[in-house]
Amino acid sequence: MTSSAARGSPRAKRLDRIARAGQYLSRNGVRWTAYAALFGLLTRANHAVYQGMVRLERRHALSGRNSVENNYRVWDTWDWSQGGEEWTQSEEWKQSLIDDVIRAQLVPQTTMLEIGPGAGRWTKPLLEMASHLVVVDLSDRCIALCRERFSGAPNIEFHVNDGRSLTAIPSDSIDGVWSFDVFVHIAPPDVDSYLAEIHRVLRPGGRAVIHHGRDGHEHFAADAGWRSGMTADLFAEMLRKHGLKLRGQFDSWGPGGRFNVRRHRDTLSVFTK
Ligand SMILES: C[S@@+](CC[C@H](N)C(=O)[O-])C[C@H]1O[C@@H](n2cnc3c(N)ncnc32)[C@H](O)[C@@H]1O
Repeated sequence: MTSSAARGSPRAKRLDRIARAGQYLSRNGVRWTAYAALFGLLTRANHAVYQGMVRLERRHALSGRNSVENNYRVWDTWDWSQGGEEWTQSEEWKQSLIDDVIRAQLVPQTTMLEIGPGAGRWTKPLLEMASHLVVVDLSDRCIALCRERFSGAPNIEFHVNDGRSLTAIPSDSIDGVWSFDVFVHIAPPDVDSYLAEIHRVLRPGGRAVIHHGRDGHEHFAADAGWRSGMTADLFAEMLRKHGLKLRGQFDSWGPGGRFNVRRHRDTLSVFTK
């Protein structure tokens, strides 16, 4: 019997590949096997090139494909006719995120900040909960949509920003920050800039809940969903650097952890000033 160590050895892997190639040849013919070999080679090359991009992004703090300019271009021209509900996994998922995360983590009747509201998918429950809600987005179109949708509300203010700072907001003025489906698309250097700003605008003891990438580009498939290179560890490291205290990171919530953000390998960080 072959031991598992021997089975995993380079020689065993080579023999396994030869055996598989022989089986492919006899079952599928020469042309199909040649295409399959080429496909395997190109996939590995693709992965290697991608990892090279990721290494450069990390080493030189590049924004890669998740620059502020690209975010502006994508979201300012997005078809918002579904109001962002196209990303809602189910009504139960959404309601649980509101009840078991937003309402559980943020204090009612306080001043709150939402970064990246889109068409206001989370703005409505935040508005019902906050005494005052500040909404910031880099897309003037998203801010115009929210202005129109929440025009009757007396306790909301809107700002278009530069995609990395919160200059319109006074220091020590915010009790709770919420951002969902936004930081997953923001490049790590811009996240770093935002965390410095969140530290500035939060009151001591204030709390933030931010949804972001968990393992960046580690997993090739994580490319789906246009995620940036953020990881859970890098986010935690940035929080420490800015004097913010991480209270927890989780990728599921609700009864028995029934709901989650695992589809694109994301997580949520809860932190305080
Ligand atoms: C995928 S949409 C999500 C919208 C909303 N949060 C939701 O969950 O329905 C991304 C939103 O984040 C905004 N956004 C993207 N990058 C941003 C940045 N660097 N600063 C501020 N807003 C940003 C976009 O304009 C857009 O409104």
